Amino acid sequence: MTSKDNSTGALIDSLNGLLADTFALYVKTKNFHWHVRGPQFHDLHLLFDTQATEIFALTDLLAERVRKLGGTTMTSIGAIAAKTQIADEDDTSLDAMAMVKQLLADNLSYVAKLREVKAAAGEAGDNATEGAVDDWTDQAEQRAWFLREIAA
Ligand SMILES: [Fe+2]
Repeated sequence: MTSKDNSTGALIDSLNGLLADTFALYVKTKNFHWHVRGPQFHDLHLLFDTQATEIFALTDLLAERVRKLGGTTMTSIGAIAAKTQIADEDDTSLDAMAMVKQLLADNLSYVAKLREVKAAAGEAGDNATEGAVDDWTDQAEQRAWFLREIAA
């Protein structure tokens, strides 16, 4: 195996990890959209939906980046669960601010994951992924900013 093959393989792994996190963060954000309660219900219900839509839009882009690189990608909920670092939250009675804080932490870990993908793309000489990661990072930092201001 050449070093180019190695660096592309590492990038594919990194992108698949990010894709699994993207699906998991999407489901968690929708979960909170559905279950949030309290005086801020209206704003948070809408904000979580906006963020979930933005997150979901990344899934196809990520999976197709992997295919363009010659790799295979997520095939099932089981494959997503095995790869993601985003923890499940099945407590439907969670306090609204706890939901905001949890999504803030998850979006910040997502930003860190994007940084790993960017480094792997640089190693592999994949300019398209490197460029796209900058936009995805800006989006994730915007989500984190909104959540941080609410939690302040
Ligand atoms: Fe809805």
